[in-house]
Amino acid sequence: MRRKFIAGNWKMYKEKSQVAEFMDEILEICRENEEKFSETHVGICPPNIYLDYVADRLKGTKIQVFAQNCYFETEGAFTGEISPEMLKSIGCFGSIVGHSERRQIFGETDELVNRKVKALLRTDLLAIVCVGESLEEREVGRAKDVVATQIEKSLKDLKADDFEQVVVAYEPIWAIGTGKTATPDEAQEMCKYIRDVVADRFGNDAGEKLLIQYGGSVKPQNSAEILSHGDIDGALVGGASLKAGSFFDIING
Ligand code: PGA
Repeated sequence: MRRKFIAGNWKMYKEKSQVAEFMDEILEICRENEEKFSETHVGICPPNIYLDYVADRLKGTKIQVFAQNCYFETEGAFTGEISPEMLKSIGCFGSIVGHSERRQIFGETDELVNRKVKALLRTDLLAIVCVGESLEEREVGRAKDVVATQIEKSLKDLKADDFEQVVVAYEPIWAIGTGKTATPDEAQEMCKYIRDVVADRFGNDAGEKLLIQYGGSVKPQNSAEILSHGDIDGALVGGASLKAGSFFDIING
């Protein structure tokens, strides 16, 4: 049985005082709903500058902290970058990699994403690997091909066992921050397809183990229906994760 995994991607939002306020609220919710947080795997992905602080505040809780991005080298002259080893040293559990904003705005390729995934695996951290097609690609009927290629290249050379440490987040680009969600059936169809591609390329065991999140305008109003589908094991939540209350409503189902 795959355990439900809800992660909140804060992107480049919140000043320090707002982070502190969020932490007060989520810790209170956590105390009142211990069972829920044992049953569901919950992660928060704040901007890097707050990782250490958030990790500290989450000590002793079941909520884990993740980065939104990292570099693949261990250390060196790479101004502005952070390594998986650094993440690990502050109590971070892993990182998102290959988010479509990184791919589109910062030019990240599947090859770079693949190096980052391997770097996280070498450090025993979890990699949340984002894939997803653009509206144009969907409209011309190429969505599945695009996603299959992203999966093959981003996860190249991985072994079946590595899939314990890899989560795939299917995020159709046209649904991110737009208020448009894929219909639950569309999301399920693509998540099932991703599982089949992984099973085909990396073995049935990898396909079975793989945790797949859906992301793109997930909100308390639509999350339960999306998450009721068999191949959707969780959600990567942007906007609706910025408030502790709405984030918990999604966790609560
Ligand atoms: P959204 O973002 O929930 O605001 O659409 C999701 C994401 O980009 O991970």
